[in-house]
Amino acid sequence: MCGIVGALAQRPIMAVLLEGLKVLEYRGYDSAGVAVLDHGTAHVVKTAGKVAVLEAEVKAQGCDGPIGIAHTRWATHGKANEVNAHPHQVGNIILVHNGIIENYQELKHKLSFEGYTFKSETDSEVLAALIHYYQHRELKPDSSLKIHTSKFNAFNQALNEVKGTYGVAVIDTENPDAIFVARSGSPLVVGCGIGENFVASDIIALLPVTSKFIYLEDGDRGIIGRDHVMLFDRDQVLVNRPVQSIQVNPEILGKGPYKHYMQKEIFEQPEALRNTLMGRLDEDNVSANAFVAQEEQAHDFLEVLKHIEHVEMVACGTSYHAALVGKYLIEEHAGISVNVTIASEYRYKRTIVPPNSLFVTLSQSGETADTLAALELAQRQGYRHTLAICNVDNSSLVRMSQYVFLTRAGREIGVASTKAFTTQLIALLLLTIALGRAHHEIDEHEGANLIASLHQAPAVVHTVLQLDAKIQELSSDFVGKEHALFLGRGPMYPIALEGALKLKEISYIHAEGYASGELKHGPIALIDSKMPVIVVAPDNLWLPKLISNIEEVKARGGKLYIFSGKNFGHSAEATMIDLGTVSPFIAPLVFTVPLQLLAYHVAVINGTDVDHPRNLAKSVTVE
Ligand code: M6R
Repeated sequence: MCGIVGALAQRPIMAVLLEGLKVLEYRGYDSAGVAVLDHGTAHVVKTAGKVAVLEAEVKAQGCDGPIGIAHTRWATHGKANEVNAHPHQVGNIILVHNGIIENYQELKHKLSFEGYTFKSETDSEVLAALIHYYQHRELKPDSSLKIHTSKFNAFNQALNEVKGTYGVAVIDTENPDAIFVARSGSPLVVGCGIGENFVASDIIALLPVTSKFIYLEDGDRGIIGRDHVMLFDRDQVLVNRPVQSIQVNPEILGKGPYKHYMQKEIFEQPEALRNTLMGRLDEDNVSANAFVAQEEQAHDFLEVLKHIEHVEMVACGTSYHAALVGKYLIEEHAGISVNVTIASEYRYKRTIVPPNSLFVTLSQSGETADTLAALELAQRQGYRHTLAICNVDNSSLVRMSQYVFLTRAGREIGVASTKAFTTQLIALLLLTIALGRAHHEIDEHEGANLIASLHQAPAVVHTVLQLDAKIQELSSDFVGKEHALFLGRGPMYPIALEGALKLKEISYIHAEGYASGELKHGPIALIDSKMPVIVVAPDNLWLPKLISNIEEVKARGGKLYIFSGKNFGHSAEATMIDLGTVSPFIAPLVFTVPLQLLAYHVAVINGTDVDHPRNLAKSVTVE
C-alpha cells in the first residue's frame, strides 16, 4: 500500500506534495514524510501519524524546493514510527517505495558486508542502499552529459536484483533535474505539466496540477525530467506510452454536507446504483454492451456466456462478500456452478479448472495485490475467459482483464467500502440474468420481472435511507458493547458477514457474521442478555427457518435487532426495523444499507476515526 507523490518543477513544490499526500491517505496513514532538494541540499522531514502532523512539522521547519518526493505509509516492515517513515536517504540517494522487497534480508546482508549500515527496520531503505551501492561501486559517471544514463543504469541494476513488488520514486542530491521511477506490482502514474512533471500512486493526488497522465505499465522504469518523460518497458526498450487526458471534477473529493466520506458514500448509493444500471438493461435481458470486451476481436460477452459451464470468483474483503452473494444468485437463477475463494488463498493453492470456466475478479480499487496475483495465476492456468467487476477505470485489474464491468459508483474514499459493494451486487445481478438467459434458465417473462425489480433498486434504497434517524437512535444501545453477532440465511448470510465486517472495521467492536442455521453448532454459547444479535430477515424462501433461529436466540435472552421485510410479530426481546416489502432479487443489496448505517453511527458514538480506521488502508496493494 502506501501513497507516493513526486514533483519536478521550476517553482517550490512542497504544497503540491503535501496536498497530494492528503488525498492519498486512503492508501495508508500511519506515518508520512517528504524530501525536497533546494540548491543541492536535501531537506527530509518525517513524522509518525497522519499527513497533518507532517504538514505542521514542515511548516515549522519552513523548507521547500523545486524537486521533491513524498510518502504516506502503511507499515509492512518495521513499526509505524518516524525512523521507518519514508523517504529513506542513503548518501545522495533519497527514495520512497510502495510494495514489499521480499529478498531484503539477503540484500541487507550483502550490503552490510560492503560496509552499509541501516537506520530503519524497513525493506525500502535496503533498496535505497542498493541503488547507492551500484552508483558508487560499479558505475562512475565520467561526464555530466552521461550523468542520467549512468545513474539510471545503476537504478536498473539495483531493481534487477530485487524480488517483490514496488512503485518507487528516487531523487538524487547530485542530480536535481530528474526523478527516477519504476513500477512492478504497485501502481504509478506520471502527471504531465508544462515545464514540470509529477508522479503519484493515483491520479487523484495530481488533479490540482494536471489533467494529463501517463499510466506506467507493470515492469516500466523511467526518468522524469521537467520537459521530458522517458520510459522503458520490462525488457528495457524505450517505449512511448500514451498521454491520456482525464477530466475529474475535484469537487467529488469533498464531503459536501456530510460529516464523513463514509456517510456521504452511503447516501450516494441511490445515484451510484442508477449510474451503474444506466444503459445496461433491455426489456427482458441485460444489454449486449453491459460487459465490455477489452480487445477488439473478442466475442460479444453475452455470446461467450452461452458456453460458460462454471464460474470461479476471487476477491478480498467486502468484494469477497459480494462474490458470495453472487454465488447464491447465479446458482439459484442461472443453474451454473460457482466457486468463490478469497484471493490470498486462491493464489497459493492448487485449483482444478473445470472446462469452459469464467474467472471473475471483484475489486473496488482494481489494485488489490492478492486479487491481481490471483488473476495473473488464472491466466496462466488457462481459464477460458476473465471478467473484472471493478470501480476504477484504467486500474491494473481492468487493464489485465478480457472483459470488464465498471461499477460507476464514483470515487470511494472512506476506507469502509459501501457504495462499491452495492454496485458490485448490481453487476452480479446483471451477470445472473445474462447467464440465466444464455442458458435458458430464465425465460423472457422472468427476465422482464427481474429487470423490473432492478429498476426499482435506487428508489428502494432511497426509502431505506430514511431509516437513518431511527438507526442512529438504536446505535446508542451499542455503547460499551465488545461483541456482536450478525445472522442471515441464504444470500443474506454474506450480508451478515458484510454487516459484521463494517461494524468491526470502523467501531472496533468484535463482530461475527453467521449463517443462522449454524448458530446451534457453537456460537449460541455466546448468547446472553448482553450480546446484541443483528438479524437480516427479508421476506424470502429462507424466512421460516430464520424465524426458528430467532426463537433460539430469544430463548437464551439475546438482545435482538431484526431488519425485516415482513412484520412477523413484535416482542419485548426484539427491536424491529421494518424495511417493507422488497423483491428477494434485490434484497441483499437493500438490506446492506441499514447495516452500513448502523456501523457508521456506532463508530461515531465510539469516537473512532470513521474514514481512517486504525491499522487499515483503502487499497491493499501489498500481499
Ligand atoms: O479494492 P478492493 O475491493 O479489492 O478491496 C478489497 C478489500 O481490501 C476491501 O473491501 C476492504 O475489506 C474494505 N476495507 C472493507 O470495507
